[in-house]
Amino acid sequence: MTAIGRYRAPSAEPGRLGVHSIGEFVLSVPAPEKAQEFYAAFGLDVTESGNALALSAADGYRWGRVVGGRRKALHHLTFHCFEEDLPRFKARLEEARIPLLSPPPGFDSNGLWFADPDGLAVEIRVGPKTSPDGKAPPAPLDGESGVRCAPYRRFAEAPRPRRLSHLLRFTADVDRMVGFYDRTLGLKLSDRSGGNIAFLHAIHGSDHHMVAFARSGAPGLHHVSWDMPSLDSVGLGAMTMAERGWRMGWGLGRHVLGSNYFHYVRDPWGSFAEYSFNIDYIPASAEWEPIDHPGEDSFYLWGPEMPPEFVFNAEAAQA
Ligand SMILES: [Fe+2]
Repeated sequence: MTAIGRYRAPSAEPGRLGVHSIGEFVLSVPAPEKAQEFYAAFGLDVTESGNALALSAADGYRWGRVVGGRRKALHHLTFHCFEEDLPRFKARLEEARIPLLSPPPGFDSNGLWFADPDGLAVEIRVGPKTSPDGKAPPAPLDGESGVRCAPYRRFAEAPRPRRLSHLLRFTADVDRMVGFYDRTLGLKLSDRSGGNIAFLHAIHGSDHHMVAFARSGAPGLHHVSWDMPSLDSVGLGAMTMAERGWRMGWGLGRHVLGSNYFHYVRDPWGSFAEYSFNIDYIPASAEWEPIDHPGEDSFYLWGPEMPPEFVFNAEAAQA
């Protein structure tokens, strides 16, 4: 299960203020029935929830919702904070003269709502710490002598993402987004590659990136990434998706920034869902120094050549 309520922030001293987790993402798409098909094949539990489809992972947590809309776009992003921090966030937003908004229709809550520089509605609310408290132990290695390690194909387990890991969004100004998310949510830069891409983590301990931004001519969602329990499950997921007709994507490979093994599957709207395994973890106690990495040397360690559609901003094209 997702760690809920057990963790007490060792870094919640005065002066340090930050959200601890992604609460949920809400995606608006023109054909929600395609979302049902795609995300169920991907290994998520997809259930009807009011006028939305709810997406849950193996941890039982509802990480996302999909609602019908004219165009595909992120509808909003919700982040969770500790209860005692919510008034501090309110004061911080007021001090920064960031207007507080009403919740979008149908998404009433008592969180703090505001818009980011790209116009996305963002919410900070009190909620469980869904980000991991440490690096998840990998599945047992196939390292034992005297044992047949691989099962028959018929015994292969269906791929099941354990939890959400991160979202990567296109933006026209990576620096502006990094600055905004630092000033408001307290997300900190983990690593970057010039003005092309930046990865942000949460100060109470999170994956190497919980949110990331990549440069493009316009805003858009690039991918939603899901944590998998093993490299096998990444490969099985990719194969399962290909068998069901979802063949476009990129992988198998390994990133340098974040170190995760990846396989991306293109979704019905031209963005991607990522199977991710073994991403770096930044503990709350870490003195993490971000590095500006040369792009050609840091995008991926190995893997097939990146297909051109991987960097295509489908939302800019539909604008
Ligand atoms: Fe990713």
